[in-house]
Amino acid sequence: MYKPIEVTENIFYVGVNDRTKHLFESLWPLPQGVSYNSYIIRDEKTVLVDTVDICYSDLFMRKIRSLLGDQPIDYLVVNHMEPDHSGSIELLVSKYPDIQIVGNKRSIEMLKGFYGITDNLFEVKDRDEVSLGKFTLQFYMTPMVHWPETMMTYVKETKTLFTGDAFGTFGTIDGGVLDSQLSPERYRDEMIRYYSNIVGKFGSPVQTALKKLSNVKIDAICSTHGPVWTIQENIADVIALYDRLSRYEAERGLVIAYGSMYGHTEELAEIIATEAAGNGVKNIVMHNVSKSHESDILRDAFKYKGLIIGSPTYNNKLYPAVDGLVSALQNRGLKNRYFGYFGSFTWADATARQFEAFAGAMEFELVAEPVIMKQAMLADVVEKARNLGRVMAEKLTSDRGES
Ligand code: FEO
Repeated sequence: MYKPIEVTENIFYVGVNDRTKHLFESLWPLPQGVSYNSYIIRDEKTVLVDTVDICYSDLFMRKIRSLLGDQPIDYLVVNHMEPDHSGSIELLVSKYPDIQIVGNKRSIEMLKGFYGITDNLFEVKDRDEVSLGKFTLQFYMTPMVHWPETMMTYVKETKTLFTGDAFGTFGTIDGGVLDSQLSPERYRDEMIRYYSNIVGKFGSPVQTALKKLSNVKIDAICSTHGPVWTIQENIADVIALYDRLSRYEAERGLVIAYGSMYGHTEELAEIIATEAAGNGVKNIVMHNVSKSHESDILRDAFKYKGLIIGSPTYNNKLYPAVDGLVSALQNRGLKNRYFGYFGSFTWADATARQFEAFAGAMEFELVAEPVIMKQAMLADVVEKARNLGRVMAEKLTSDRGES
């Protein structure tokens, strides 16, 4: 039997860890796994907040039974319908046929669409309240954080906010569920990777949600992925991180991402990096796109203010993995970056026009003359590469952002 894990007064954790899946959404690596969090609120009415991925339904049901025994569940609150959280709803309804499912107009449509559920539905709107006895639930609609139906649920009396994906992170919960029981630093980079990979496209809706919640006093953040945040300093930290990332603000640092077939483009990358470091940039991350996963490059592109991308010409286009990266950055609408680019070709360059179009579409500040090499590293190309590294360093070190 599972020992109940009380995260705050009468609110219990019944989530699960996934250390099996290699790729989240079949896309994003999970070197430290991921958790699917679910919670039970015990009052005169008993409430389950979100469910878990269908792969873990059995374990999930056992955890619920360990806590509740034969006691019924009155409400299931569905903050988010993506299947990593809604995947166990069908099984839950079969075990608890009288349960009322609380959602908004969009989630109720999706319950019908995904699972054919049309009965025992309880529709709520923005700021509606439901009394559980001692506790009151209040609902905040937060569309597009991360899907159109996403909402958050607030327990007014304990100031506990169930946030769906928001403030979530990759990484399993290894023992302690609360931030006070673990080292939050472990999750910092994984939270940025989670944000940039999964939610990064939705900066504006995240800003809208943060503004809506700005006057809500929060003593616990219960996300659907990762630890429960209960220490005020940590709560302020994760909210500030989301605020910064969703405004596309970045730390002082430089990402150099490049593709290279035979090492020529890579040589340019090394020259640029050495020059940037020699001129005071300490945080430099270099990614060979053929080895680094796009997931990590996106994380660092969201993290750092400087971005330089390099590519050989390949079939009259960018190198395929660079093309993929550029498309992923464009898809997420990354903004406010100092940008530079470099390329190499043998008989006809295609990189300059593609990078130029990319920089224009993203409204990036192009900091220096592009560096384009034909066949071999001549002295003028070396000088241009050094210039790019130097000017980028000047931009970054004079920037008033975080160091
Ligand atoms: Fe964790 Fe958008 O689902």
